[in-house]
Amino acid sequence: MIWAMDENNLVGIGDRIPWHIKEDLLYYKSKTKGQIVLMGDTTYYSLKGYYKEKPLPYGKIYVATIDKNLVIEGCHMVYDIISFLNDLDKDIDLWVVGGATIYKLSLPYANRLYISFVKGKYEGDRYFPKIDYSNYNLIWENDTDKVRYTLFERK
Ligand SMILES: NC(=O)c1ccc[n+]([C@@H]2O[C@H](COP(=O)([O-])OP(=O)(O)OC[C@H]3O[C@@H](n4cnc5c(N)ncnc54)[C@H](OP(=O)(O)O)[C@@H]3O)[C@@H](O)[C@H]2O)c1
Repeated sequence: MIWAMDENNLVGIGDRIPWHIKEDLLYYKSKTKGQIVLMGDTTYYSLKGYYKEKPLPYGKIYVATIDKNLVIEGCHMVYDIISFLNDLDKDIDLWVVGGATIYKLSLPYANRLYISFVKGKYEGDRYFPKIDYSNYNLIWENDTDKVRYTLFERK
């Protein structure tokens, strides 16, 4: 899983990210480019708003929704995320890229957490659930002015 959150675990406001931190966007892109990703439909449409006609820069895109009538061209639809994650081949490197609902549902299945701790407190309405860090080891970190980049691995 990869995400950025502020000091209150805030991750979003409506369908947007509450901050604009270019270095974090570049970091996110460098990690997820060409990868197999899973995202919720809200996050998918939000990203499409930025990319417009350009294809999203991932290898394979799974889009989760409970709307069984929703089919998005070029994406693989996931109508039951729990069955999907339970059945997932363990050798597949799947990156969960949001948003809040999908993070919450995926957290129990995730082995690696790439967390960008954004410094400060922003306005918004989508939060990451509370994390019990005792379940994870901190593997790597890089502290900058605006963001502390980390990688946690499940023990
Ligand atoms: N800070 C970050 O790193 C980051 C990254 C990505 C996104 N975000 C932010 O996160 C926010 C969006 O989060 P969100 O929670 O609103 O939307 P979301 O997680 O992108 O999408 C939620 C979708 O998942 C569906 N869903 C719920 N349970 C499901 C299940 N069991 N199986 C399959 N699908 C299921 C929901 O369906 P229903 O609607 O029908 O319930 C909904 O369509 C935005 O503000 C975005 O900017 C932040």
